[in-house]
Amino acid sequence: MSAARIMILNGPNLNLLGMREPEIYGKDTLADIQALCEKTAEAHGLSIDFRQSNLEGELVNAIQECRSGYGGLILNAAAFTHTSVAILDALKTLTIPVIEVHLSNPHRREEFRHHSFVSLAARGIICGLGAKGYALAIEALAKS
Ligand code: DQA
Repeated sequence: MSAARIMILNGPNLNLLGMREPEIYGKDTLADIQALCEKTAEAHGLSIDFRQSNLEGELVNAIQECRSGYGGLILNAAAFTHTSVAILDALKTLTIPVIEVHLSNPHRREEFRHHSFVSLAARGIICGLGAKGYALAIEALAKS
């Protein structure tokens, strides 16, 4: 990977992980996931910038920041995955690899979750594996 720093971006309502529908999203909090990401990145000699926002525009700004100084982006855009052309357009300005991550498997859920704008700009997609998906995404980027 060209730059050793990875942006890990989390979208709306993921700040409530652990309390929010744990039967779907698991018991890990976002802080637990951040700790797992830090440990995994360190093991691969990478550093991470781990963020969460409930605001679409803030996510767009963070994606634009990835245009320099970052070697990869791991994105769980949460509900914006299924709605946001603005996030897709921002992703299309990047040349670094983007990995789309979801804790749950949206394809086993309501039909409106089956379409992802993010997928149109993602190198790979990891879903349905809970917090482990983030660690797998870091490993994939480390080897890219
Ligand atoms: C999610 C799946 C989305 O459909 C949902 O809106 C989320 C979380 C996931 O990680 O499983 O908020 O991205």
